[in-house]
Amino acid sequence: MRRKLLLGNWKMNKLVSEARDFALASKPLVGTALKNNIDLGVAPTYLSLDTVKKNADKGMIVAAQNVHFNDHGAFTGEISISMLKELGIDWCLIGHSERREYDNETNEKCNLKIKALIANDMVPVYCCGESLSTFEAGNTKAFVSEQIRVGLRDLTAADVKNLVVAYEPIWSIGTGKNASAEIAQDICSFIRSILKEMFGNVANDIRILYGGSVKPENVKAYLSCPDVDGALVGGASLKIDSYEGLLTNIL
Ligand code: PGA
Repeated sequence: MRRKLLLGNWKMNKLVSEARDFALASKPLVGTALKNNIDLGVAPTYLSLDTVKKNADKGMIVAAQNVHFNDHGAFTGEISISMLKELGIDWCLIGHSERREYDNETNEKCNLKIKALIANDMVPVYCCGESLSTFEAGNTKAFVSEQIRVGLRDLTAADVKNLVVAYEPIWSIGTGKNASAEIAQDICSFIRSILKEMFGNVANDIRILYGGSVKPENVKAYLSCPDVDGALVGGASLKIDSYEGLLTNIL
């Protein structure tokens, strides 16, 4: 039985003081979520990770938004896995479409990062999803399949048992133009079939999230789909009221 997961992606938002206020305000939500077999998490900026980890409920998942695949060295502006682990952070987003678009994050680079995270017992949340032109050309499945096959290359079934995949069609991110629940289900179930082909039955345990303009009003429709195990939420995860709404609407 896959547990549901609501993960907020704060992107480049919130001062440390704002992140602390959110972490404190979110405390009562985590117990309610866990009692209902739902995991709750947020991915703050690097600067706020420590503050959120220290001020949120212990059961709150705190994820980084990126990491380097090397452990240390001359990589100006980068952060290593051991730096995250020192703060008690053991989750990390990989391959978000904004990083793919603005920071040259390729499937191959994602693969190096995912392998490094897994080797360090961390949970990668591997993001995939197609552009509007790919969607309109009817090439979504071929595109997403390539992202999954290359991003998860050279891994074993044991390696991927805690992995999370997030399907986020780029045309639905931050646009208010969300993919229908039918599209989300179709692609998430397609992703599960690729995972099954690559890794066997462990694919039934891997959580697959939908992301893209998820809001309290539509979250339930997505999470009612059999292959959608949760949501990766940007805009609607920033305010505590709306974050709470995401949870209460799926209880
Ligand atoms: P959005 O962002 O919910 O604001 O569309 C989702 C994401 O980019 O993870």
